Amino acid sequence: MLDASIFVFIMDLNIRNLMPKTLDGQITMEKTPSYFVTNEAPKRIHSMARDTKLIVVVRNPITRAISDYTQTLSKKPEIPSFEVLAFKNRTLGLIDASWSAIRIGIYALHLENWLQYFPLSQILFVSGERLISDPAGEMAKVQDFLGLKRIVTDKHFYFNETKGFPCLKKPEDSGAPRCLGKSKGRTHPKIDPDVIHRLKKFYKPFNMMFYQMIGQNFQWEQEETQ
Ligand SMILES: *[C@@H]1O[C@H](CO)[C@@H](O)[C@H](O)[C@H]1NC(C)=O
Ligand SMILES: *[C@@H]1O[C@H](CO)[C@@H](O)[C@H](O)[C@H]1NC(C)=O
Repeated sequence: MLDASIFVFIMDLNIRNLMPKTLDGQITMEKTPSYFVTNEAPKRIHSMARDTKLIVVVRNPITRAISDYTQTLSKKPEIPSFEVLAFKNRTLGLIDASWSAIRIGIYALHLENWLQYFPLSQILFVSGERLISDPAGEMAKVQDFLGLKRIVTDKHFYFNETKGFPCLKKPEDSGAPRCLGKSKGRTHPKIDPDVIHRLKKFYKPFNMMFYQMIGQNFQWEQEETQ
């Protein structure tokens, strides 16, 4: 089944690099986080390789946004608070959907764009949450989707307690182990619970639309955020 010309696009919407690159060398993989939200991307990729398989790593858009903000904050400490950036008008509870940290998490909107060029059967949505809690299970889905034998299994992962993330066991020839997430060092700023509540209301209809479009429910609404 292994076709050397399979072309796979992995779009990791998480700022942290979650996907291990273990499948390198077998398939041409392009890993481009911003592609999923780029308007021109589906058309361009379709004209290059219409059989491309697309893998998109998604997670709770609220945690994604906070993580995104935290990463920017570490580079630019002078930026306004999350609360300030998240609202167009806080009194009115008007979320600023044009702020990229918020906009990227409107998955249904971006997906609509992709579905004009690619059938759903060519797209796999990987749960960023399950990639941490059950990396082997999520990798099994990835390998099945790519028509590969399940080479990466739970034997390849161990949980690093210090890091708080699963890591891939080190191949003999390589250096540091690759982990699914960076160390816990960077703590997220505490976000006002009212803002979280408002964001939950904002994202809910988009999440529902997304689940319906892909026939898969990530249950982000049930999650404690922070
Ligand atoms: C927010 O909306 C309120 C009520 O309409 C208005 O009085 C206020 O000036 C607005 N604030 C900003 C920053 O636009
Ligand atoms: C776990 O992670 C810590 C912190 O990054 C690192 O110092 C340590 O060597 C790791 N342990 C193993 C067994 O990989």
